[in-house]
Amino acid sequence: MDMNRDKIERPYVPYEPLATVLPVVKPATSRSRKVKILLVLLTAAATFGLNHCWRGLDTDLPSSTPSTRADPPEFDWNALEPAKTIRWTSCYSGQKCARLLLPLDYGTPDGPTTAIALRMLPATDKVNYKGPMLINPGGPGGSGTDLVARAGKNISAIVGPSFDILGFDPRGIGASTPSASCFESDSQRQLWELQEDHRLLNASDGSVDIARARQTLLGQRCEQKIGGEWGIARFMSTPDVARDMLEISQQLGHEKLQYWGFSYGSILGQYFSAIYPDKVGRVIIDGVYDGHNYRGALWNSNLADTDAVIDSFFTFCHQAGPEKCALYDSTPAKIRARFFAVLHAVEAQPVSIPNAEPPVLVTRKVLQSQLFRATYKPLAQFVVVADTVYALESGNQTALAALAPKIVPPTECKCADLEPWLASNEAFSPIACGDGDEIVYDREAYAKYYENLVASSQLAGPLWANSYLKCAEWRVRPKWRWTGPLGAKNTSHPLLLVSPRYDPVCPLSDAQAVQDRYAGSGLLIQESVGHCTLAAPSLCTAKHIRAYMENGTLPKAGTVCGVDELPFVGAVQDVRALSVEDTELLEAMKGLSAAVPTFGFGGL
Ligand SMILES: *[C@@H]1O[C@H](CO)[C@@H](O)[C@H](O)[C@H]1NC(C)=O
Ligand SMILES: *[C@@H]1O[C@H](CO)[C@@H](O)[C@H](O)[C@H]1NC(C)=O
Ligand SMILES: *[C@@H]1O[C@H](CO)[C@@H](O)[C@H](O)[C@H]1NC(C)=O
Ligand SMILES: *[C@@H]1O[C@H](CO)[C@@H](O)[C@H](O)[C@H]1NC(C)=O
Ligand SMILES: *[C@@H]1O[C@H](CO)[C@@H](O)[C@H](O)[C@H]1NC(C)=O
Repeated sequence: MDMNRDKIERPYVPYEPLATVLPVVKPATSRSRKVKILLVLLTAAATFGLNHCWRGLDTDLPSSTPSTRADPPEFDWNALEPAKTIRWTSCYSGQKCARLLLPLDYGTPDGPTTAIALRMLPATDKVNYKGPMLINPGGPGGSGTDLVARAGKNISAIVGPSFDILGFDPRGIGASTPSASCFESDSQRQLWELQEDHRLLNASDGSVDIARARQTLLGQRCEQKIGGEWGIARFMSTPDVARDMLEISQQLGHEKLQYWGFSYGSILGQYFSAIYPDKVGRVIIDGVYDGHNYRGALWNSNLADTDAVIDSFFTFCHQAGPEKCALYDSTPAKIRARFFAVLHAVEAQPVSIPNAEPPVLVTRKVLQSQLFRATYKPLAQFVVVADTVYALESGNQTALAALAPKIVPPTECKCADLEPWLASNEAFSPIACGDGDEIVYDREAYAKYYENLVASSQLAGPLWANSYLKCAEWRVRPKWRWTGPLGAKNTSHPLLLVSPRYDPVCPLSDAQAVQDRYAGSGLLIQESVGHCTLAAPSLCTAKHIRAYMENGTLPKAGTVCGVDELPFVGAVQDVRALSVEDTELLEAMKGLSAAVPTFGFGGL
């Protein structure tokens, strides 16, 4: 029964065109050709009739759970016949969708396949047409088709109308099939999540044993559901996805990749550029995680700047004043003291919100998680944390009841409502743990690991420490694991790295380490807090990104971009002083922070 623990690793599969397997599609003909679509009506039994639950939609959970959905599930992905070449069909008013059949294992091109879901917002400037730009929202486990739904138009406003914005669901994710789901339904997954320990993870009590046991159970269950010789779990590794991206680009007539990847998407960009250095057209990686730390399955370089983001909560609250921040006080230190007083109070005595629907109990873990989630998108969520802490401090039950869904993301049962492609997944482990070195749990080593994480960030450490346990209890090994260098002496075009000054899970120091490994790459720093540069609108960043995409130009070394909006404080400059174009661009960027990707935070 141990066949999943296959140790065979192919260190390097050189790029071989799939032309022998897949008919080569000439771009000019494929674009103009009338696409013939065969609609296959699937039996309802296969896809419907399941009970589905999802978390409240306004909570922006930074987990692999999709948090905001721009579209109702009006497009039936299952009705789209997968094909070995990209055949676009119209979908979602003005967009294009396709399902692309690719080999599960590139080493067995005639073997079993996976159908990759593609969703594209077509370029509107056909005169200066520059081809597709692929996007990846991170996770791992995030859906690219969903990112197009939530932010495609806004991303297009940044890179310009000459690019198609192309989201794809990586293997096992979203509308790609087979799905990396270890549960029968989303409601079943939610019920499992509700059994989670109410204590924070702490290496000096029994909470680690429970967290570990949960990961062991989940790992075993996944092994049964998606493991096995040809199970999807063995074929979701990042080198496989990088190869898929190359195939997608080339089928669309572009020899080289154009790409913007966020968060885990920065890992995907690093792998791609290392494996196919001569296929780099434009590669932007945003919110950069160190590929070496990732491949070690360590997850311990992430929190270097988390506390700086948390500190900014206090300073921006103070700067904004009492009108804009409920927790305002005469100094940032006083605001901080009030925050910690409330945190310790709920630890000693959890606060109940009996009139919320559903009722909510505020524990230390709940409050700490709310703050950590908010560090991903301070513009949208710092205010909510301030309101919550103020309401707790003043014991205002009316306010607490209203805030409850933003304190504990509610689990709602929506029976038979959720299409499979909107459901959550267990993709994190097959991807991140599979890409990573095998780790064996050792109590003492883990205690030390935990201590170090907590030393980086006292508040985020206990929440982050779960990723390591996930990988320690994950047994399925990928068929293709990349063990070659994660860097390149030369790429066919230099990479552009972009990083906030303070990112809660992808620190600037990681971006700098990665920059050193990819010769000639540029690094743009955005003077912001939050996860990835999307977390704060910046006309300056947008213009550099556009210049890179359009003309290939890198910002000058040492370029730092200011932002146009600050948490609590609001707009930095007078919009009346902006040109019409800039006003529109800024408008498109605002609210993009709601689309900020999720990242390896499955522990909540
Ligand atoms: C873990 O528990 C110990 C003992 O109760 C406590 O002193 C310590 O502060 C806890 N660690 C964290 C990070 O909460
Ligand atoms: C409690 O909060 C509600 C809603 O935010 C507000 O209208 C009310 O004035 C608050 N009550 C007190 C006593 O502050
Ligand atoms: C890097 O590769 C490009 C083309 O791929 C080539 O023109 C250039 O000379 C190479 N640079 C170095 C330093 O090898
Ligand atoms: C690209 O280069 C052209 C020619 O130098 C210039 O006019 C244009 O403004 C550049 N585009 C961007 C976005 O910088
Ligand atoms: C996207 O841009 C449009 C304007 O172009 C704006 O109205 C909308 O609020 C933006 N949405 C997000 C999520 O940023």
